[in-house]
Amino acid sequence: VLFTYLHLAPAPELTKALLDRKIVGIAYETVQLDSGSLPLLTPMSEVAGKLSVQIGARWLEKENGGSGVLLGGVPGTPPGRVAIVGGGVVGTNAAKVALGMGAAVTILDINLDRLRYLADVFGSSLRVLASDSHSIEQAVAEADLVIGALLIPGAKAKKVITKAMMAKMRRGSAIVDVAIDQGGCVEGAVPTSHENPVIDVDGVTLCCIANLPGAVARTSTFALTNATFPYVAKLADQGYKDALAADPALFRGLNVLRGDLVCRAVAEGVGMKHVACTIADL
Ligand SMILES: NC(=O)c1ccc[n+]([C@@H]2O[C@H](COP(=O)([O-])OP(=O)(O)OC[C@H]3O[C@@H](n4cnc5c(N)ncnc54)[C@H](O)[C@@H]3O)[C@@H](O)[C@H]2O)c1
Repeated sequence: VLFTYLHLAPAPELTKALLDRKIVGIAYETVQLDSGSLPLLTPMSEVAGKLSVQIGARWLEKENGGSGVLLGGVPGTPPGRVAIVGGGVVGTNAAKVALGMGAAVTILDINLDRLRYLADVFGSSLRVLASDSHSIEQAVAEADLVIGALLIPGAKAKKVITKAMMAKMRRGSAIVDVAIDQGGCVEGAVPTSHENPVIDVDGVTLCCIANLPGAVARTSTFALTNATFPYVAKLADQGYKDALAADPALFRGLNVLRGDLVCRAVAEGVGMKHVACTIADL
């Protein structure tokens, strides 16, 4: 029984290996509560959101090719401006850190209920805007630091931040495209690493580290195991059959079952046959 991040949809070879070995594979990323939220992805998004501003601020420093803006400013100078595209878990955590530093923060989302929630929670310290190409263009042009934090569940991220928008930014400004693990929401974004974190796009620094939480592995490990441990304990105490049968969220995490590919989204991703599975089939 394998219980971890599997990310099988883009990995047909790995999927085949798990099927051939008749593994019972439960994927962290598809464990889903009735509310639709993904409890084992949330901690990593919290870490990535907070880290994105910490890392982005570094690329504004002159020595790193930045424009030389201090996000918090000091009395007598304007604060740096941060635009966050996507107000979910990543975006909210990025906003907390950016506001804590004293930056002027704008957050954009297409979900109006989410914007209402953010406005209630953060009050007037946060500018909340409905996201469309016009509002993104304006917010990006004004920003010293842009955080790409959008997600359309199950789909590749849309390239909502175009090169034409980036051309209007002050040279030495920075973008952290956190959505890079879904293909990125910035035109020209390619996955980067902690060793080589950024690319230069016409004078704007673009950071697309695909595994941001790895930089703070101690915090990330505890954050993740806090969320996974209750499920691990259930699997260990009850065995996988009873644990899956008793917990619909865990059951949704099942991807491969003794040679059958039982997760429809993965089957579509790898182009293999989907086998429907109910609790009776366990
Ligand atoms: N690089 C990393 O290390 C890392 C780590 C964790 C998460 N991520 C990625 O970060 C992204 C965000 O994750 P999350 O947990 O915050 O997701 P989430 O579902 O909590 O939030 C995504 C938000 O984006 C909004 N959105 C969708 N389309 C939009 C648009 N066109 N304009 C503005 N907002 C839009 C949604 O309404 C939603 O509120 C995902 O792609 C996730 O995979 C990356």
